[in-house]
Amino acid sequence: MMERTPAILVVGSINMDLVLQTERAPLAGESFIGREYGYVPGGKGANQAVAAARLGADVTFVGKIGADAHGTKLKERLQEQGISTESLTVDQGSQTGLAVIMVEASGQNRIIVYPGANMAIGERDVERAFERPYDAVMTNLEIPQPIVVEVCRRAREKGIPVVLDAGPAQPFDLGQVPGLEILTPNETETLALVGRECGTAEEAEAAAQALAAASGARFVVIKMGRQGALLYDEGTARLLPAFDVEAVDTTAAGDAFTAAVTVHYLRHGDLARAVQYANAAGALAVTRLGAQPSLPTADEVKQFARERDIDL
Ligand code: RIB
Repeated sequence: MMERTPAILVVGSINMDLVLQTERAPLAGESFIGREYGYVPGGKGANQAVAAARLGADVTFVGKIGADAHGTKLKERLQEQGISTESLTVDQGSQTGLAVIMVEASGQNRIIVYPGANMAIGERDVERAFERPYDAVMTNLEIPQPIVVEVCRRAREKGIPVVLDAGPAQPFDLGQVPGLEILTPNETETLALVGRECGTAEEAEAAAQALAAASGARFVVIKMGRQGALLYDEGTARLLPAFDVEAVDTTAAGDAFTAAVTVHYLRHGDLARAVQYANAAGALAVTRLGAQPSLPTADEVKQFARERDIDL
């Protein structure tokens, strides 16, 4: 059966990632010899846009790049995925966003982001993007907070469901974005938003409750890494366990997850299944190096599920 092609608007960040592989991160004051490095397309918004496109959505991306070679390359990479980039514009006064990412042998990463042009997204960019209809809007906190608020306001006005990926971790008043369909932070983002740890399923449930109360979101999905994801729906919590894979690099696994949960939910309307699908997409992303190169296609997720005898 032909699957439906949901139309998704992503308003978010786009960065060039400088990825350096190393046995371990240096200690303070220590110089340490790394292994390999490369420039890889990334940025939470762009990663989520690419992930959604690879999973079969029709994606429009709104963002800002600088007038530099990184920006040009990043835009081309999105276009290669069939993503509409008319609203990905150049801010002459800024450099394209850059993320410096250290990837340790364990697959653990450390990221420093220079946001650059991402901080120049304006209300006019958002207004233009909403001239077309969409099945959902995805946004994240790697762009100015007032823009996130404006995106959510416009979507609410038009009755378009919003999925808010709450990364990167920072304090943000969730009361500014009422009516979210799905709020999906990870553990550190949850701590920044509601001051709650998610070490155990019980703690995560209490945190999800606090997130739901603060935001009024219909669903809260906490990404808990190796443990899986906690789905909180009208007072009921379920921990959907992660798939066990060999970690190469965890970068963008959360972005793959957010995009996958959105695409699957729009197609089938069952959030628990969508979370399992997203667990599979996130697991595949963890097995590969880099942000956008690691994002799986719909066929790859299907194959992953087939190998494990599960119906996604
Ligand atoms: O979520 C992963 C992303 O975070 C990286 O691609 C990097 O650009 C930072 O934005």
